[in-house]
Amino acid sequence: MQEDTQPFQLLDALFEPIVIIDDKFKIIYYNHFFSTFTKASPRIIRNAQTIFKIINVEEKILQTLLATASANNQVALSQEMEIKLASDASEENLAPDRQVHASMKVIPLSTTRYILCFNVLSVEKGLHRKYREKLEELKRAHGQIIQADKLATLGELSASIAHEINNPLAIAMGHGEILERVLENETIQERELVDNAYKNISEALQRIKTIVMNMKSFAHKSEEKKQYHDLISIIDKSMMLVDTPFRAAGIDLKFERPVDKFITLVNRIEMEQVIVNLLKNALDALREQSTISAAHIHGIVEIKLKKNKQDECLEILVIDNGPGIPEKIQGEIFSPFFTTKEISEGTGLGLSVSSKIVEGHHGKLQLTKSSNEGSIFTVQLPLIEVSSYVASVNALNASNDASRKKILVVDDEEKILNILSTFLEEVGHTMIGSTDPSEALEMMDKLEMDLIITDYNMPRMNGHDFAKNVRKKSNSIPLIYLTSSQFLNHFQEDRQKYNIAGLILKPFSKEDVTTIIDGVFKEAKKK
Ligand SMILES: Nc1ncnc2c1ncn2[C@@H]1O[C@H](COP(=O)(O)OP(=O)(O)OP(=O)(O)O)[C@@H](O)[C@H]1O
Ligand SMILES: [Mg+2]
Repeated sequence: MQEDTQPFQLLDALFEPIVIIDDKFKIIYYNHFFSTFTKASPRIIRNAQTIFKIINVEEKILQTLLATASANNQVALSQEMEIKLASDASEENLAPDRQVHASMKVIPLSTTRYILCFNVLSVEKGLHRKYREKLEELKRAHGQIIQADKLATLGELSASIAHEINNPLAIAMGHGEILERVLENETIQERELVDNAYKNISEALQRIKTIVMNMKSFAHKSEEKKQYHDLISIIDKSMMLVDTPFRAAGIDLKFERPVDKFITLVNRIEMEQVIVNLLKNALDALREQSTISAAHIHGIVEIKLKKNKQDECLEILVIDNGPGIPEKIQGEIFSPFFTTKEISEGTGLGLSVSSKIVEGHHGKLQLTKSSNEGSIFTVQLPLIEVSSYVASVNALNASNDASRKKILVVDDEEKILNILSTFLEEVGHTMIGSTDPSEALEMMDKLEMDLIITDYNMPRMNGHDFAKNVRKKSNSIPLIYLTSSQFLNHFQEDRQKYNIAGLILKPFSKEDVTTIIDGVFKEAKKK
């Protein structure tokens, strides 16, 4: 920019992105707001050969605007359009694919100089969209509150009804069996009659038993506590449980197994129940389709498992190519006892029990798509379940007991996390586990910790690199290596360099762990 740009400095006072270019699209001057708008540093803008290095618009469009402006010697306006920030414009690549909705205005200064202004409209557009989203969110929340209220009442009722029904049910079933034994010696004709009656009674009782079981799980939390499990193995087990009816109906059940593990804190039995419920619903829908539809559609049910980084959750999708769910009943399918099935086939509790379970895991169960080509149910679970950790940390803080600590454990094996979580909780500490070192590092920023224990040999980032990254964030937090003796030399090497406070050798006992941890805390206290 060799020419005298002093007169242009007035433009710096305007809150509108403005740039002066020549007929070769070279930038002669830009105001402060242009740099803020593009997030490009002065160095980048100075070095840009043309404006297209900074703003990604079609050369043809800008060329036409310049030509129109010069031909009429007046302002030329473009249509509204999506304008992208060129991917190499932002120095730190802060927003490599930022896109704004704007129009361009060209004012001719001379035959070779033009003022180019951007009229950014995305802010208003964005506001409107946000307002609409918030309104939808409110509506949903309102619906959920009403639903939760109904469910709470039902939960209380279920517990007492289930209890009341259970005893007579057991008595009736027991007597049915006695009857069967006694009648073994009767004549063939009588026996057939009684057999038939017994079969009907037994089916009816079995159905009541299922309802009672569902009502119980609706009212109570299952006893088994949450542990670190790989969702892949939970899905495998659930698929095994429904394998026979799927085969019998000739319906394919597929699961594209991801390479990575999908470990999260869940109650295994409850999660299996959710997936089995969804699979059974898909199976029922496909079975029904095959009886009513003339066109022969081969039934396929597919499970997909993926990480949704944007919403920080893991997703299990159950996809079927069944008849879909009519729009007018979509709002009701999650209500208890809502069913479209024959009395002998469905209780209408599957989806309501399942969504209650998923909510208990701080997740969501939703019908994400349904058309005449099929339905998709999505289970979302938090990537790392931090809420129970936060709850226990709050309890710890309230107890004011300094000997109780908050510990982060990183190990790619869920079994180790489960063992340590049991050991540490038994001695009164609170633990949060992660199988992914990068996630653990992110957690360090979000949660308060007193100690970190890390495995050494992990696939994506080993203990050495993890320690290096931890030290970038904190010099003081005590860090312990957890490893088998084969990696002992790494501990020796890193000990000084990254201030590794201790070593737990695998395999370990509860005593090993507590002794080492207590030692490390004592040392830390001295400092
Ligand atoms: N994949 C699906 N395709 C079509 N309809 C479905 C699907 N999943 C659920 N539904 C509808 O939602 C209703 C409620 O499902 P829910 O699992 O709660 O109860 P149910 O399957 O009828 O009975 P239960 O699960 O207690 O045996 C079903 O009756 C069915 O109409
Ligand atoms: Mg069901």
